[in-house]
Amino acid sequence: MSTEPVIPNEPQGVSILTRVPGPASEALRARHQHFQDARTIHLYQDARKSLGSFIVDADGNTLLDVYGHIAAVPIGYNHPALLSAWKGGAFDWAAGFRPALGIMPPPEWVDIVEAISKVAPVGLPRFVTVTTGSEAVENAFKAAFIAFMRRRRGGASWSEDDARLSMINAQPGVNELKILSFEGAFHGRSLGALSATRSKAIHKLDVPAFAWPVVPFPANKFPLNEHVHDNSALEASCLQAVTDALDADGNIAALIVEPIQGEGGDRHASPAFFRALRDLLKARGVFMIVDEVQTGAGATGTFWAHEAWGLTDPPDFVTFSKKMQLGGFFYREEHAVPETYRIFNTYLGDPLRGAQLAVILDVIAKDDLVAHTKRTGEKLLAGLLELQARYPDVLSQARGVGTHCAIDARDPATRDAIVGAVRQLGLEAGGSGDRSIRFRPPLVFASRHVGLALDLLSAAVATVR
Ligand SMILES: Cc1ncc(COP(=O)(O)O)c(C=O)c1O
Repeated sequence: MSTEPVIPNEPQGVSILTRVPGPASEALRARHQHFQDARTIHLYQDARKSLGSFIVDADGNTLLDVYGHIAAVPIGYNHPALLSAWKGGAFDWAAGFRPALGIMPPPEWVDIVEAISKVAPVGLPRFVTVTTGSEAVENAFKAAFIAFMRRRRGGASWSEDDARLSMINAQPGVNELKILSFEGAFHGRSLGALSATRSKAIHKLDVPAFAWPVVPFPANKFPLNEHVHDNSALEASCLQAVTDALDADGNIAALIVEPIQGEGGDRHASPAFFRALRDLLKARGVFMIVDEVQTGAGATGTFWAHEAWGLTDPPDFVTFSKKMQLGGFFYREEHAVPETYRIFNTYLGDPLRGAQLAVILDVIAKDDLVAHTKRTGEKLLAGLLELQARYPDVLSQARGVGTHCAIDARDPATRDAIVGAVRQLGLEAGGSGDRSIRFRPPLVFASRHVGLALDLLSAAVATVR
């Protein structure tokens, strides 16, 4: 008997009737483009007809989705538990207005907060909710700076002079504080987060940035067992670079790191590297922010990717968004900001997204979707390894944890050609970095989908060789 999640009436396969995007999508794009930049849109999705792991588009094409709206779909499209909660009135209280959650939340918000607390990373029981990943990162930076300055002042409050100087952006000591980040990192496009983002110049060009330092990231080579020596030498040299950066600048308040670099090209480092990094930061009194915006909520086969590292001391801050529907960050009790309104905004999240999240977390727990994703990921990775063995001239570096997998094409043009060709065959996949094809399916992605995805990818690679 299969223990895999089943979405009743989910399509059995893909069905491609037109080019993708087809004429209906292109007509929508033409209307849309009058007012917004619609050039990045892959297709227009029929929100009602899409189901489980399958997208139905405006032209009636049915595609298998392994991209999940840039890693943001937790339990597939139109999961019956979400639709029945909606139709049964479970979200009615959230339909009539959008509250400012920091001043007048509906009582239901407390239920949602309790539901989120059940997935809090070990050691980080408290959390702030906002809306997006970039906001999550920005607010975690603020919280880290505030905690850092409080410690520097020996727990004392700021002076009147500090307050006066803050009003002319001239705070002594504070303006020199920095966040250390890694080459290839992506932490968002908003002003503060962007200073820690290092994936592509196009994100950063023409925008003023903080003069924050950057260190190399030890992107492991795969298969790991063939590169043990090189990978560990690289990790040691990157740790040394972090040490050197901290030696050179006593104003680094925090380091931010993705468990797996996402936008930067699915770059992995070992659990041992992260354990050593954690110990180093702790010894130096520099906070560790783990950015789980893309890796969080189960896709790596543990609820939080950093759980797999076996840290003896938890991170200081963990950011989330995407599959969590809300943005936000978890933090250690000791980093709670004593004063109110310092980490604050109007909405502080969105109760409707929170209500959906509570249902989603319930489905993840009841259907054991994190363990399921670990098993599915093993099949996906095995299939990708087979594929690269079949097409060694085109594919390499198959890698992944859970279903958070990727494989490299021989060059950027070939990657783009494969992603384009496979969409015409009915698989919605994404790129990351300059030559990787990334998999970010929902947690209901199962063996039957793995087989189909690999067949489609194989057929697409055969056409671009
Ligand atoms: C690791 C990471 N951090 C932050 C962000 C920014 O999130 P958002 O696009 O919701 O602002 C992203 C988005 O891809 C991300 O992958």
